[in-house]
Formats: sequence, structure tokens, C-alpha cells
Amino acid sequence: MKSAVTIEGVKKTVFGVGSVQQIALECQSLGAVRPLLVMDRALSETDMRTLIQEIFLNSPVKAIPYFDVTPEPSPELADKGAELAKKEKADCVIGVGGGSTLDVAKAIAVLVNNEGKALDYVGLNLVKNPGLPTIMVPTTAGTGSEATFTSVFTMRKTKSKGGINSPFLYPHTAILDPELTLGLSPEVTASTGMDALTHAIESFTSRQAHFMSEPVSLEAIEIISANLRGAVFNGTNIHFRNNMLKASYLAGLGLAMSGVGAVHALAYPLGASFDVPHGTANALMLPYVLEYNYPGDIDKFARIAWAMGEGDDGYSDREAASLVVESVWDLARDIGIPCTLQDLRIPEDSIPDMAEAAMKVERPIMNNPRPMTATVAEDIYRRAFEGI
Ligand SMILES: [Fe+2]
Repeated sequence: MKSAVTIEGVKKTVFGVGSVQQIALECQSLGAVRPLLVMDRALSETDMRTLIQEIFLNSPVKAIPYFDVTPEPSPELADKGAELAKKEKADCVIGVGGGSTLDVAKAIAVLVNNEGKALDYVGLNLVKNPGLPTIMVPTTAGTGSEATFTSVFTMRKTKSKGGINSPFLYPHTAILDPELTLGLSPEVTASTGMDALTHAIESFTSRQAHFMSEPVSLEAIEIISANLRGAVFNGTNIHFRNNMLKASYLAGLGLAMSGVGAVHALAYPLGASFDVPHGTANALMLPYVLEYNYPGDIDKFARIAWAMGEGDDGYSDREAASLVVESVWDLARDIGIPCTLQDLRIPEDSIPDMAEAAMKVERPIMNNPRPMTATVAEDIYRRAFEGI
């Protein structure tokens, strides 16, 4: 018998243009007056810092800045933030930024109430105590970190990636303000949007998918297919930004409920060994892995094709399912995603090691709709290298 379905998640979601103005009020509703405000270095040097700090100016809430986050963060960044939070007696943690920042903020919150370092908790269900309450404010539409129980870190010494996975990481509040994503470059919009599409497709086809996650993931696929090109090429249009932020949140909910698959597993070594950003790595691997995966669940892939606007009434499920690969290719090419590992200067002789590393990303490998082995992973990497 399949195990019972249990749903946990973010407690409160505030969505809408201008909703970032509620940050201080949301802190107060948690009884917090000294939040640690986590941002990345690059974002803290933009108008975003002023915008956020002005919100706190006329409020009894006084934020403690921690602006040291860097892309593809190391666990030490969370350790450092937790030390600051303890020293300053922070009573809440706010993350404003992309997935790296939100992941670090979530980890800081639990480290305040748990002994040891972030690395001690990389794994599943190792966190013993609940952390400080958290408020997550994404500024990209992609990672869905505001909806998930995971913080992903890059361990550069061992060239590996790993996540702290615990229900205590679910944010208390997600504030989703599409205006914050208006200034994203076409490149970041494209790669983060493809990360969201990967979450949606992988959670929909996951072996853990269920009656609650499937409609959410499928809706995200439909919205992303209809809006990602618009967000990339017409980034100041709030309609596209609104839809992409909504979809990346839905995809994050789907991911939290049923996990991701082999695209993420094969993308991780690209980030860990070659510093390829998470969204770009997923976007590049997505069509190659789907080409292998779609015969593993024709029914699901046919439903993805319909959601992407492909096929028509005359198509069999098998024919419709095969269209997903081409549709994802078209989208990736249209929005300028690198097409091959060669484009990213990944050396061909690294493929066996990457395949071995990918197989160690156990849960996504197990979730994959078609069985994945090291030999298959190597073959997929070779196709991705050559672009075939
Ligand atoms: Fe992802």
C-alpha cells in the first residue's frame, strides 16, 4: 500500500502588487520586533535595500542586517548568520532575495535553536527543535524556496551539494510581490523560470505525486508555458511577472508535496563542480532528461502536453507525450538557455564523475518516473554534451 498522504507547509501567504509593504506588520503579527534581515551582497547594493529599509523606518520593528549571502551558498554562511542572530537576540528571520538567500535565511532560523553547524543537519529530518519564525520574500520567480522545507548548500571542498530537509524549515509567512521581480534581467528571468518549470514537471511526474500535488503542479506548468516568454522579453509588464511569481510559488508547493526527480539530480554536479547557477543547470538538463523520462509515464506526459498547449484531439496519449520534449526545447531555445554542456565549457572527461555524483542524490533519483542508473545518467550527459 502506498504510504498515507500528509500535507504540511507554509502557514500564511500574502500575494499581490505592493504586498512587500506588509513586512513590518507581518513581523509584528508574529510578536517579533528584532528580525534578522537576510539579503545577498549584490541585492543589498541596489534600490531593493532602500525599499526594504524604508518600510521599517516608521515601525517599531528594527531589522538587523545580514547582507553576506553569495550565490550557490556554502553552509558556513548560515552558521555566520546564526551567530549574528544569537548575538543580537533576533526574534524572527526575514529573507529577501532569490533562492540562495531564502535557503540561508531558513537555515539560520533553525540553527538559532539547534546546537552545532548547518553541515550537521544536511540530510532528512535531522533538525530537532523548531527555529525562529521566518518571513520569505522572493525577488525571483523560480526557486519556490518560500514554499519548501529545504535549504540547499554547496560544499566546495567535497564538490557536492546537499540540503537540510526538515518540516521545521517551512516558512511561517510568504510575501509574494510581483513588483519586486520587475527589474530582473532577461537571463535571470529565463533560468529561474525554467527552474520553476522543472519543479512543476518533476513534481507532477514524481513517484510521490498525489491528488493534492498533481493539480497544483499541472497548473504551474500551464501558467509558465503561457507566460515565461513574455516575462523574458517584456520584463516590465506586471501581468507576466504576476503570473510567473504565482506559478513559481505553485511549483514550489508541488515540489514540497512530492519532490523533484532526475533533472535536479543531474543538475547538482554542474553546480557543485563547475559553479553553474541552479536554474541554468536545470534548464540545460531538462529536455535531455525528459526525452528519457516520457515513455516512463505516457499518461502524465500527455497531460503535460495538453497543459503546454500542444497536440489536439486527434493525438494519442503516446503522440502527445512525445511533444513535451520538443515544446520544452522550443521554449529553452526561444529564451536563450545554453543548449549543451559544451556551451558551459564543461569538459567531456568529467561525465563519469558527474554521473556517479548524480546517483548519490538519492531521493530525486528514486522519485524519477523512469528508473535511473549511472549508465543512463552518463548517456544523458553525453547527449547534453553533444546536443543530440
Ligand atoms: Fe530547483
